[in-house]
Amino acid sequence: KAPPGVSVDPLRIVGKELKFLSNNIRQLLGSGHPALDKVAKYYTRSEGKHMRPLLVLLMSQATALDPRKDLTRTPNTKPVDISLSPLSILEDANPDTDPVVPKPGEVQNSFIGDDNILPNQRRLAEITELIHTASLLHDDVIDNAETRRGSASANIEFGNKMAVLAGDFLLGRASVALARLLDPQVIELMATVINNLVQGEFMQLKNTAKDEAKPVYTNNTVEYYLQKTYLKTASLISKSCRSAAVLGCSAPEVVEAAYAYGRNLGLAFQLVDDMLDYTITAAELGKPAGADLELGLATAPLLFAWKSNPELGPMVGRKFSREGDVQRARELVYQSNGVEQTRALAQDYADKAVAAISDFPDSDAKAGLIEMAEKTMKRRK
Ligand code: FPP
Ligand code: MG
Ligand code: MG
Repeated sequence: KAPPGVSVDPLRIVGKELKFLSNNIRQLLGSGHPALDKVAKYYTRSEGKHMRPLLVLLMSQATALDPRKDLTRTPNTKPVDISLSPLSILEDANPDTDPVVPKPGEVQNSFIGDDNILPNQRRLAEITELIHTASLLHDDVIDNAETRRGSASANIEFGNKMAVLAGDFLLGRASVALARLLDPQVIELMATVINNLVQGEFMQLKNTAKDEAKPVYTNNTVEYYLQKTYLKTASLISKSCRSAAVLGCSAPEVVEAAYAYGRNLGLAFQLVDDMLDYTITAAELGKPAGADLELGLATAPLLFAWKSNPELGPMVGRKFSREGDVQRARELVYQSNGVEQTRALAQDYADKAVAAISDFPDSDAKAGLIEMAEKTMKRRK
Protein backbone atom coordinates (compact mmCIF):
# COMPACT_ATOMS: atom_id res chain seq x y z
CA LYS A 1 0.00 0.00 0.00
CA ALA A 2 1.32 3.43 -0.91
CA PRO A 3 1.95 5.73 2.07
CA PRO A 4 -0.55 8.57 2.44
CA GLY A 5 0.14 11.50 0.17
CA VAL A 6 2.10 9.43 -2.33
CA SER A 7 0.18 9.20 -5.57
CA VAL A 8 -0.18 5.80 -7.18
CA ASP A 9 -0.42 5.04 -10.85
CA PRO A 10 -3.78 3.28 -11.36
CA LEU A 11 -2.40 1.74 -14.52
CA ARG A 12 0.38 0.05 -12.56
CA ILE A 13 -1.96 -1.46 -9.99
CA VAL A 14 -4.00 -3.38 -12.51
CA GLY A 15 -1.62 -3.03 -15.46
CA LYS A 16 -1.04 -6.78 -15.75
CA GLU A 17 -4.78 -7.26 -16.05
CA LEU A 18 -5.16 -4.60 -18.70
CA LYS A 19 -2.51 -6.23 -20.88
CA PHE A 20 -4.87 -9.17 -21.29
CA LEU A 21 -7.92 -7.02 -21.83
CA SER A 22 -7.45 -6.03 -25.49
CA ASN A 23 -6.51 -9.55 -26.44
CA ASN A 24 -9.54 -11.01 -24.68
CA ILE A 25 -11.79 -8.44 -26.31
CA ARG A 26 -10.44 -9.36 -29.73
CA GLN A 27 -11.14 -13.02 -28.89
CA LEU A 28 -14.70 -12.14 -27.95
CA LEU A 29 -15.08 -10.41 -31.30
CA GLY A 30 -14.02 -13.32 -33.47
CA SER A 31 -16.90 -13.72 -35.89
CA GLY A 32 -15.50 -16.19 -38.40
CA HIS A 33 -16.26 -13.64 -41.12
CA PRO A 34 -13.18 -11.72 -42.24
CA ALA A 35 -14.96 -8.50 -43.17
CA LEU A 36 -17.04 -8.39 -40.00
CA ASP A 37 -13.96 -9.22 -37.95
CA LYS A 38 -12.13 -6.28 -39.45
CA VAL A 39 -14.83 -3.70 -38.75
CA ALA A 40 -15.74 -5.10 -35.32
CA LYS A 41 -12.12 -5.06 -34.16
CA TYR A 42 -11.26 -1.75 -35.81
CA TYR A 43 -11.53 0.41 -32.66
CA THR A 44 -9.66 -2.20 -30.62
CA ARG A 45 -6.47 -1.78 -32.74
CA SER A 46 -5.47 1.61 -31.47
CA GLU A 47 -5.26 1.49 -27.72
CA GLY A 48 -7.93 3.61 -26.08
CA LYS A 49 -7.60 4.90 -22.54
CA HIS A 50 -9.49 1.86 -21.20
CA MET A 51 -10.84 4.11 -18.52
CA ARG A 52 -14.00 2.10 -17.92
CA PRO A 53 -12.38 -1.36 -17.55
CA LEU A 54 -9.69 0.22 -15.40
CA LEU A 55 -12.37 1.53 -13.06
CA VAL A 56 -14.09 -1.87 -12.92
CA LEU A 57 -10.82 -3.60 -12.03
CA LEU A 58 -9.90 -1.04 -9.39
CA MET A 59 -13.42 -1.13 -7.92
CA SER A 60 -13.31 -4.94 -7.85
CA GLN A 61 -10.07 -4.84 -5.90
CA ALA A 62 -11.06 -2.01 -3.59
CA THR A 63 -14.38 -3.66 -2.65
CA ALA A 64 -12.76 -7.10 -2.24
CA LEU A 65 -10.65 -5.62 0.54
CA ASP A 66 -13.73 -4.25 2.31
CA PRO A 67 -14.93 -6.64 5.03
CA ARG A 68 -18.55 -5.57 4.57
CA LYS A 69 -20.08 -8.48 2.61
CA ASP A 70 -23.52 -9.72 1.68
CA LEU A 71 -23.38 -12.97 3.62
CA THR A 72 -26.42 -14.39 1.86
CA ARG A 73 -24.35 -14.81 -1.32
CA THR A 74 -21.05 -16.49 -2.21
CA PRO A 75 -18.68 -15.06 -4.82
CA ASN A 76 -18.37 -17.12 -7.99
CA THR A 77 -14.67 -17.89 -8.29
CA LYS A 78 -15.03 -20.18 -11.30
CA PRO A 79 -13.37 -19.34 -14.63
CA VAL A 80 -15.75 -17.84 -17.18
CA ASP A 81 -16.34 -19.74 -20.41
CA ILE A 82 -16.39 -17.41 -23.40
CA SER A 83 -15.94 -19.95 -26.15
CA LEU A 84 -18.37 -19.38 -28.97
CA SER A 85 -21.61 -21.23 -28.94
CA PRO A 86 -21.74 -22.90 -32.39
CA LEU A 87 -25.35 -21.86 -32.86
CA SER A 88 -24.80 -18.23 -31.98
CA ILE A 89 -22.22 -17.53 -34.61
CA LEU A 90 -21.23 -18.50 -38.15
CA GLU A 91 -21.13 -22.27 -38.08
CA ASP A 92 -18.55 -22.60 -40.80
CA ALA A 93 -15.92 -20.72 -38.85
CA ASN A 94 -12.92 -22.98 -38.70
CA PRO A 95 -11.29 -22.92 -35.27
CA ASP A 96 -8.25 -24.77 -36.61
CA THR A 97 -7.39 -22.19 -39.21
CA ASP A 98 -8.88 -19.10 -37.60
CA PRO A 99 -7.01 -18.55 -34.36
CA VAL A 100 -9.38 -15.81 -33.23
CA VAL A 101 -12.28 -18.27 -32.91
CA PRO A 102 -11.96 -20.18 -29.64
CA LYS A 103 -12.79 -23.86 -29.91
CA PRO A 104 -16.25 -24.79 -28.58
CA GLY A 105 -16.04 -25.61 -24.91
CA GLU A 106 -12.67 -23.94 -24.57
CA VAL A 107 -12.34 -21.81 -21.49
CA GLN A 108 -10.73 -18.50 -22.23
CA ASN A 109 -9.35 -17.29 -18.99
CA SER A 110 -7.82 -13.96 -18.80
CA PHE A 111 -4.88 -13.53 -16.48
CA ILE A 112 -5.60 -15.06 -13.10
CA GLY A 113 -3.32 -13.49 -10.59
CA ASP A 114 -3.44 -13.20 -6.86
CA ASP A 115 -4.90 -9.73 -6.96
CA ASN A 116 -8.35 -10.08 -5.47
CA ILE A 117 -10.10 -9.82 -8.82
CA LEU A 118 -12.60 -12.56 -9.69
CA PRO A 119 -12.71 -14.03 -13.21
CA ASN A 120 -16.25 -12.71 -13.67
CA GLN A 121 -15.18 -9.19 -12.61
CA ARG A 122 -12.41 -9.35 -15.20
CA ARG A 123 -14.98 -10.34 -17.79
CA LEU A 124 -17.20 -7.48 -16.66
CA ALA A 125 -14.32 -5.11 -17.40
CA GLU A 126 -14.20 -6.46 -20.95
CA ILE A 127 -17.98 -6.21 -21.37
CA THR A 128 -17.81 -2.58 -20.27
CA GLU A 129 -15.25 -1.78 -22.96
CA LEU A 130 -17.30 -3.68 -25.57
CA ILE A 131 -20.44 -1.66 -24.81
CA HIS A 132 -18.42 1.56 -24.83
CA THR A 133 -16.80 0.69 -28.17
CA ALA A 134 -20.20 -0.20 -29.66
CA SER A 135 -21.50 3.19 -28.59
CA LEU A 136 -18.52 4.90 -30.26
CA LEU A 137 -19.20 3.08 -33.53
CA HIS A 138 -22.80 4.31 -33.46
CA ASP A 139 -21.89 7.74 -32.14
CA ASP A 140 -19.45 8.43 -34.96
CA VAL A 141 -22.18 7.63 -37.49
CA ILE A 142 -24.67 9.92 -35.72
CA ASP A 143 -22.09 12.71 -35.33
CA ASN A 144 -20.65 12.25 -38.82
CA ALA A 145 -17.21 12.13 -37.19
CA GLU A 146 -14.23 11.66 -39.47
CA THR A 147 -11.65 10.72 -36.88
CA ARG A 148 -11.45 8.66 -33.69
CA ARG A 149 -8.42 7.84 -31.55
CA GLY A 150 -6.17 9.59 -34.04
CA SER A 151 -7.24 7.63 -37.15
CA ALA A 152 -10.08 7.64 -39.64
CA SER A 153 -13.35 6.74 -37.91
CA ALA A 154 -15.00 3.40 -38.73
CA ASN A 155 -17.82 5.10 -40.64
CA ILE A 156 -15.26 6.79 -42.90
CA GLU A 157 -13.14 3.65 -43.30
CA PHE A 158 -16.01 1.19 -43.90
CA GLY A 159 -19.15 3.28 -44.39
CA ASN A 160 -22.17 3.87 -42.16
CA LYS A 161 -23.86 0.55 -42.79
CA MET A 162 -20.95 -1.58 -41.69
CA ALA A 163 -20.14 0.71 -38.76
CA VAL A 164 -23.70 0.42 -37.40
CA LEU A 165 -23.78 -3.34 -37.91
CA ALA A 166 -20.40 -3.75 -36.25
CA GLY A 167 -21.70 -1.81 -33.25
CA ASP A 168 -24.70 -4.13 -33.09
CA PHE A 169 -22.40 -7.14 -33.32
CA LEU A 170 -20.38 -5.83 -30.37
CA LEU A 171 -23.57 -5.45 -28.34
CA GLY A 172 -24.54 -9.01 -29.23
CA ARG A 173 -21.16 -10.32 -28.13
CA ALA A 174 -21.30 -8.25 -24.96
CA SER A 175 -24.71 -9.79 -24.23
CA VAL A 176 -23.37 -13.33 -24.63
CA ALA A 177 -20.46 -12.57 -22.33
CA LEU A 178 -22.87 -10.95 -19.88
CA ALA A 179 -25.13 -14.02 -19.82
CA ARG A 180 -22.09 -16.16 -19.00
CA LEU A 181 -21.58 -14.19 -15.80
CA LEU A 182 -24.67 -16.05 -14.53
CA ASP A 183 -25.74 -13.13 -12.36
CA PRO A 184 -29.28 -11.86 -13.11
CA GLN A 185 -28.75 -8.62 -11.20
CA VAL A 186 -25.63 -7.75 -13.18
CA ILE A 187 -27.28 -8.78 -16.46
CA GLU A 188 -30.14 -6.40 -15.68
CA LEU A 189 -27.81 -3.56 -14.72
CA MET A 190 -25.67 -3.82 -17.83
CA ALA A 191 -28.64 -4.37 -20.16
CA THR A 192 -30.15 -1.20 -18.71
CA VAL A 193 -26.96 0.65 -19.60
CA ILE A 194 -27.57 -0.17 -23.26
CA ASN A 195 -31.03 1.38 -23.23
CA ASN A 196 -29.76 4.32 -21.13
CA LEU A 197 -27.19 5.11 -23.84
CA VAL A 198 -29.97 5.33 -26.40
CA GLN A 199 -32.19 7.40 -24.05
CA GLY A 200 -29.31 9.83 -23.49
CA GLU A 201 -28.60 10.13 -27.18
CA PHE A 202 -32.30 10.79 -27.86
CA MET A 203 -32.43 13.49 -25.19
CA GLN A 204 -29.47 15.07 -26.96
CA LEU A 205 -31.12 14.92 -30.39
CA LYS A 206 -34.46 16.23 -29.18
CA ASN A 207 -33.69 19.06 -26.85
CA THR A 208 -35.11 22.23 -28.27
CA ALA A 209 -38.47 23.92 -28.40
CA LYS A 210 -38.49 23.20 -32.13
CA ASP A 211 -38.32 19.46 -31.56
CA GLU A 212 -41.04 19.14 -28.98
CA ALA A 213 -44.52 20.45 -28.35
CA LYS A 214 -43.30 21.28 -24.86
CA PRO A 215 -39.96 23.10 -24.91
CA VAL A 216 -37.49 21.31 -22.69
CA TYR A 217 -34.70 23.85 -22.96
CA THR A 218 -36.33 26.71 -21.14
CA ASN A 219 -36.07 26.90 -17.37
CA ASN A 220 -34.73 23.47 -16.45
CA THR A 221 -31.90 23.54 -18.94
CA VAL A 222 -29.00 22.48 -16.76
CA GLU A 223 -31.12 19.79 -15.11
CA TYR A 224 -32.03 18.37 -18.52
CA TYR A 225 -28.41 18.48 -19.60
CA LEU A 226 -27.28 16.63 -16.46
CA GLN A 227 -29.91 13.95 -16.85
CA LYS A 228 -28.87 13.47 -20.45
CA THR A 229 -25.24 13.33 -19.34
CA TYR A 230 -26.03 10.68 -16.75
CA LEU A 231 -27.76 8.51 -19.35
CA LYS A 232 -25.22 9.03 -22.10
CA THR A 233 -22.02 8.66 -20.08
CA ALA A 234 -22.38 8.14 -16.33
CA SER A 235 -24.81 5.22 -16.57
CA LEU A 236 -22.19 2.88 -18.02
CA ILE A 237 -19.53 3.92 -15.51
CA SER A 238 -21.82 3.85 -12.47
CA LYS A 239 -23.63 0.62 -13.29
CA SER A 240 -20.40 -1.19 -14.13
CA CYS A 241 -18.84 -0.06 -10.83
CA ARG A 242 -22.00 -1.23 -9.11
CA SER A 243 -21.90 -4.56 -10.95
CA ALA A 244 -18.28 -5.09 -9.87
CA ALA A 245 -19.34 -4.74 -6.24
CA VAL A 246 -22.36 -7.03 -6.77
CA LEU A 247 -20.16 -9.74 -8.32
CA GLY A 248 -17.86 -9.46 -5.32
CA CYS A 249 -20.86 -10.00 -2.98
CA SER A 250 -20.30 -6.69 -1.23
CA ALA A 251 -22.76 -5.47 1.39
CA PRO A 252 -25.55 -3.17 0.11
CA GLU A 253 -23.89 0.00 1.46
CA VAL A 254 -20.67 -0.87 -0.40
CA VAL A 255 -22.64 -1.51 -3.60
CA GLU A 256 -24.28 1.92 -3.20
CA ALA A 257 -20.90 3.57 -2.59
CA ALA A 258 -19.46 1.94 -5.72
CA TYR A 259 -22.44 3.21 -7.69
CA ALA A 260 -22.18 6.75 -6.27
CA TYR A 261 -18.47 6.85 -7.11
CA GLY A 262 -19.18 5.82 -10.71
CA ARG A 263 -22.11 8.17 -11.12
CA ASN A 264 -20.21 11.22 -9.91
CA LEU A 265 -17.04 10.32 -11.77
CA GLY A 266 -19.06 9.73 -14.94
CA LEU A 267 -20.72 13.13 -14.70
CA ALA A 268 -17.34 14.79 -14.07
CA PHE A 269 -15.88 12.90 -17.03
CA GLN A 270 -18.51 14.10 -19.51
CA LEU A 271 -18.42 17.68 -18.20
CA VAL A 272 -14.67 17.69 -18.83
CA ASP A 273 -15.29 16.15 -22.27
CA ASP A 274 -17.71 18.95 -23.11
CA MET A 275 -15.21 21.51 -21.81
CA LEU A 276 -12.34 20.06 -23.87
CA ASP A 277 -14.49 20.47 -26.98
CA TYR A 278 -14.03 24.22 -26.42
CA THR A 279 -10.45 24.26 -25.20
CA ILE A 280 -8.35 21.64 -26.98
CA THR A 281 -7.33 21.21 -30.61
CA ALA A 282 -8.46 18.27 -32.72
CA ALA A 283 -4.83 17.18 -33.13
CA GLU A 284 -4.46 16.73 -29.38
CA LEU A 285 -7.89 15.15 -28.93
CA GLY A 286 -7.49 12.65 -31.77
CA LYS A 287 -11.11 13.40 -32.70
CA PRO A 288 -12.93 16.50 -33.97
CA ALA A 289 -12.77 19.55 -31.68
CA GLY A 290 -15.23 22.41 -31.49
CA ALA A 291 -17.66 19.90 -32.92
CA ASP A 292 -20.56 20.26 -30.51
CA LEU A 293 -21.81 23.62 -31.79
CA GLU A 294 -21.47 22.40 -35.37
CA LEU A 295 -23.64 19.45 -34.38
CA GLY A 296 -26.20 21.84 -32.92
CA LEU A 297 -25.41 20.78 -29.36
CA ALA A 298 -25.62 23.14 -26.41
CA THR A 299 -23.39 21.62 -23.72
CA ALA A 300 -22.44 22.93 -20.27
CA PRO A 301 -20.04 25.75 -21.30
CA LEU A 302 -22.70 27.21 -23.56
CA LEU A 303 -25.56 26.68 -21.11
CA PHE A 304 -23.61 28.61 -18.47
CA ALA A 305 -22.76 31.36 -20.98
CA TRP A 306 -26.45 31.57 -21.89
CA LYS A 307 -27.30 32.67 -18.35
CA SER A 308 -25.48 35.96 -18.89
CA ASN A 309 -26.14 36.20 -22.66
CA PRO A 310 -29.84 35.91 -23.54
CA GLU A 311 -28.94 36.33 -27.21
CA LEU A 312 -27.84 32.67 -27.15
CA GLY A 313 -31.46 31.51 -26.59
CA PRO A 314 -32.66 31.79 -30.18
CA MET A 315 -29.42 30.23 -31.43
CA VAL A 316 -29.95 27.22 -29.15
CA GLY A 317 -33.52 27.02 -30.49
CA ARG A 318 -32.33 26.78 -34.09
CA LYS A 319 -29.35 24.60 -33.17
CA PHE A 320 -26.81 27.19 -34.38
CA SER A 321 -27.95 26.57 -37.94
CA ARG A 322 -27.93 30.15 -39.21
CA GLU A 323 -24.79 31.47 -40.90
CA GLY A 324 -22.50 32.93 -38.24
CA ASP A 325 -24.30 31.28 -35.29
CA VAL A 326 -21.49 28.87 -34.48
CA GLN A 327 -18.80 31.57 -34.49
CA ARG A 328 -20.89 34.03 -32.48
CA ALA A 329 -21.89 31.41 -29.91
CA ARG A 330 -18.27 30.33 -29.52
CA GLU A 331 -17.20 33.96 -28.96
CA LEU A 332 -19.86 34.40 -26.29
CA VAL A 333 -18.75 31.22 -24.51
CA TYR A 334 -15.13 32.40 -24.48
CA GLN A 335 -16.14 35.88 -23.26
CA SER A 336 -18.26 34.43 -20.46
CA ASN A 337 -17.08 32.21 -17.64
CA GLY A 338 -18.89 29.18 -19.11
CA VAL A 339 -15.73 27.10 -19.41
CA GLU A 340 -14.63 27.89 -15.82
CA GLN A 341 -18.10 27.13 -14.46
CA THR A 342 -18.08 23.80 -16.30
CA ARG A 343 -14.70 22.95 -14.80
CA ALA A 344 -15.93 23.92 -11.31
CA LEU A 345 -19.03 21.74 -11.63
CA ALA A 346 -16.89 18.83 -12.87
CA GLN A 347 -14.62 19.33 -9.85
CA ASP A 348 -17.65 19.16 -7.52
CA TYR A 349 -18.61 15.80 -9.00
CA ALA A 350 -15.04 14.50 -8.89
CA ASP A 351 -14.89 15.46 -5.20
CA LYS A 352 -18.21 13.70 -4.58
CA ALA A 353 -16.86 10.57 -6.27
CA VAL A 354 -13.88 10.54 -3.90
CA ALA A 355 -16.13 11.21 -0.89
CA ALA A 356 -18.41 8.31 -1.84
CA ILE A 357 -15.65 5.76 -1.23
CA SER A 358 -14.15 7.39 1.86
CA ASP A 359 -15.36 4.48 4.04
CA PHE A 360 -13.47 1.89 1.99
CA PRO A 361 -10.40 0.53 3.79
CA ASP A 362 -7.16 2.11 2.58
CA SER A 363 -5.56 0.17 -0.27
CA ASP A 364 -3.65 0.75 -3.49
CA ALA A 365 -6.88 0.14 -5.38
CA LYS A 366 -8.71 2.80 -3.38
CA ALA A 367 -5.80 5.20 -3.97
CA GLY A 368 -6.08 4.28 -7.67
CA LEU A 369 -9.77 5.21 -7.70
CA ILE A 370 -8.96 8.56 -6.08
CA GLU A 371 -6.19 9.09 -8.63
CA MET A 372 -8.68 8.36 -11.44
CA ALA A 373 -10.82 11.24 -10.19
CA GLU A 374 -7.78 13.53 -10.30
CA LYS A 375 -6.81 12.28 -13.75
CA THR A 376 -10.34 12.93 -14.98
CA MET A 377 -9.91 16.58 -14.07
CA LYS A 378 -6.41 16.88 -15.53
CA ARG A 379 -6.93 14.98 -18.77
CA ARG A 380 -6.44 16.69 -22.11
CA LYS A 381 -7.88 13.92 -24.26
C1 FPP B 1 -19.89 9.93 -27.18
O1 FPP B 1 -20.33 11.21 -26.99
C2 FPP B 1 -21.07 8.99 -27.17
C3 FPP B 1 -21.62 8.41 -26.11
C4 FPP B 1 -21.06 8.59 -24.77
C5 FPP B 1 -22.84 7.55 -26.21
C6 FPP B 1 -23.40 7.36 -27.60
C7 FPP B 1 -24.62 6.54 -27.58
C8 FPP B 1 -25.29 6.15 -28.66
C9 FPP B 1 -24.84 6.53 -30.02
C10 FPP B 1 -26.53 5.35 -28.47
C11 FPP B 1 -26.59 4.04 -29.19
C12 FPP B 1 -25.44 3.14 -28.93
C13 FPP B 1 -25.45 1.92 -28.31
C14 FPP B 1 -24.26 1.05 -28.40
C15 FPP B 1 -26.58 1.40 -27.54
P1 FPP B 1 -19.82 12.46 -27.84
O2 FPP B 1 -20.31 12.39 -29.23
O3 FPP B 1 -20.18 13.65 -27.05
O4 FPP B 1 -18.25 12.25 -27.72
P2 FPP B 1 -17.10 12.16 -28.80
O5 FPP B 1 -16.49 13.51 -28.81
O6 FPP B 1 -16.13 11.13 -28.23
O7 FPP B 1 -17.66 11.75 -30.10
MG1 MG C 1 -22.24 12.17 -29.91
MG1 MG D 1 -19.31 12.06 -31.05
